[in-house]
Amino acid sequence: MCGIVGYIGNQKASPILINGLIRLEYRGYDSAGISTIEKNELSIMKDKGRVKNLYQLEGIDDLTGTIGIAHTRWATHGKPAKENSHPHLDNSKTFSVVHNGIIENYNELRKFLTEHGYTFYSQTDTEVIPNLVHYYYNKDENSDSLKFLRAVKNACTDLKGSYAIEILCKDYPDNMIVTRKDSPLVIGKGENENYISSDIPAILSFTRNFYLLDDLELAVLERTQVSFYNLDLKPISKDTKTIEWNATSAEKDGYEDFMLKEIYEQPTAIRETIGAKFNEASKCEFDELNFTKDSLSNISKIYIVACGTAMHAGLVGKNAIEKLCKITTEVDVASEFRYRNPLVDSHTLCIFISQSGETADTIAALKLCKEKGAKTLAISNVIGSSITREADYSIYTHAGPEIAVASTKAYTSQVMLIVILAIYFAEILEMDTDLLNTLKKDIMELPAKIEETLKLSENILDFSKKTYQEKDIFFLGRGIDETVAKEGSLKLKEISYIHSESYPAGELKHGPIALIENDITVVSIITDPNLVEKTVSNIQEVITRGAKTLIITNQNLDENMFDLTIRIPETNPFISPILSIIPLQLFSYYISKEKGLDVDKPRNLAKSVTVE
Ligand code: G6P
Repeated sequence: MCGIVGYIGNQKASPILINGLIRLEYRGYDSAGISTIEKNELSIMKDKGRVKNLYQLEGIDDLTGTIGIAHTRWATHGKPAKENSHPHLDNSKTFSVVHNGIIENYNELRKFLTEHGYTFYSQTDTEVIPNLVHYYYNKDENSDSLKFLRAVKNACTDLKGSYAIEILCKDYPDNMIVTRKDSPLVIGKGENENYISSDIPAILSFTRNFYLLDDLELAVLERTQVSFYNLDLKPISKDTKTIEWNATSAEKDGYEDFMLKEIYEQPTAIRETIGAKFNEASKCEFDELNFTKDSLSNISKIYIVACGTAMHAGLVGKNAIEKLCKITTEVDVASEFRYRNPLVDSHTLCIFISQSGETADTIAALKLCKEKGAKTLAISNVIGSSITREADYSIYTHAGPEIAVASTKAYTSQVMLIVILAIYFAEILEMDTDLLNTLKKDIMELPAKIEETLKLSENILDFSKKTYQEKDIFFLGRGIDETVAKEGSLKLKEISYIHSESYPAGELKHGPIALIENDITVVSIITDPNLVEKTVSNIQEVITRGAKTLIITNQNLDENMFDLTIRIPETNPFISPILSIIPLQLFSYYISKEKGLDVDKPRNLAKSVTVE
């Protein structure tokens, strides 16, 4: 979590840094701060709370330095408070540091540094970094151009945990050093200026050319060049990557919130993700993949591993892979999977889904599977993100930048891509051609049906106005609809703070029905024609107990039975979640708005969870 930005060039750094922080606020908003070099001295301005508190600080407009680093915080060690805000200085005020990640051995390092006369002014793990750099800097008797770099490298060798770090040194006013391990950091290349950011969209308005730093590499940024080194300080050469996203895709574009904009971007996101994968006559193609009938037949089991919404997309993927390819598929949350000694070997294919490609648990699970000899495939929305660099194969959703913490278009794009992946596997395995051709045709019609579904917003808004003060809401479904119930429930709790639970409709009577009383809202998704009657019976049971019901369906139901029925277009059951989730995204959105909450930045959450 946490977002970091950096700038070195010929312009005033502070407005550029603040602009970047605003775009990275989705990564955390407990405090914000910047450090620039002003007339060979380090300046630090920081405060708890949002970035807007920072740009209201007296004196911030007077900063004229053309090199600087900045941070927006999601608190891990030390409560949200000014003293725990980044940047942090060493005791001699020679180095300032911003950090995203967790230094796991900070207690040990703090003890070591305290014994060597250093004092600590915060409860953070980060404060050991500038002091450790200073410790090595002081010990180094040489004073050549690499002294700053050597000190940073020596400090990094002692750090355990995860980090993306930017460091300024007042003795090197024309250099910024950055490094990373298991936390994201990209370097944007401009004309006589260079940028740092935790993600690409935050600095897209300045450049579209990026260097990607690998774990345990260091970069020294000057105005006209960037030099790269490994941990032995051997120079490395790197090329830039050009990113196709344009800057306006990371703006609100007239919408009140990013979440609403992203909900309405789903037809485009799905069109782009489908891309040119199908045509009438030929089989589905992925340029990035080279599976053969032999290699696929050798796979005895597939694991799909992810966190949060991405895991819910995985559940839809399991349904498609098992039914289309007849390969046993298990889905697990990365934080559980990695610690349960999973039965993975060279006959296992492990698929990792992550919008950001930077989720710490997902990356760790991927590394574990590689160690165990499995084949690994990453599905991400971010080109060059950590999981795509670790995995044997990577394929991309084309959702464009997703800024709102609650995922919408990334989820539907992930569902789309994993279903297409299942088709690709099934075609190689020569499975049921008719079934596959019908599904491909239905996929081509999907973007237009998403547009139709988005037009249903008014009824949902009305229902939200009647529901927003509730304390508990239940979500029910069977089969594929249960996976959507899970995602709908997550969306609601994330942004409306209403307690919600999702349950397989048939399981209701084994416990949760005890909680159903007069006027409790129960939302049900009913799209699988084979399960309609069963689910309707379960809904009848909650109606009898006084529940209010919202039904999302593409079936012909007796609408008089329910308080509100949202009739979505019919589609193939393999892809129905892409339509049935949309009313639920809107339902959560409108409830959150009705409650006056910050939809894009819900409390305690961050978009990208780069700590365990
Ligand atoms: C956080 C976000 C969720 C997201 C999850 C996984 O919890 O708030 O929206 O689904 O992380 O993120 P990833 O980038 O790995 O898809």
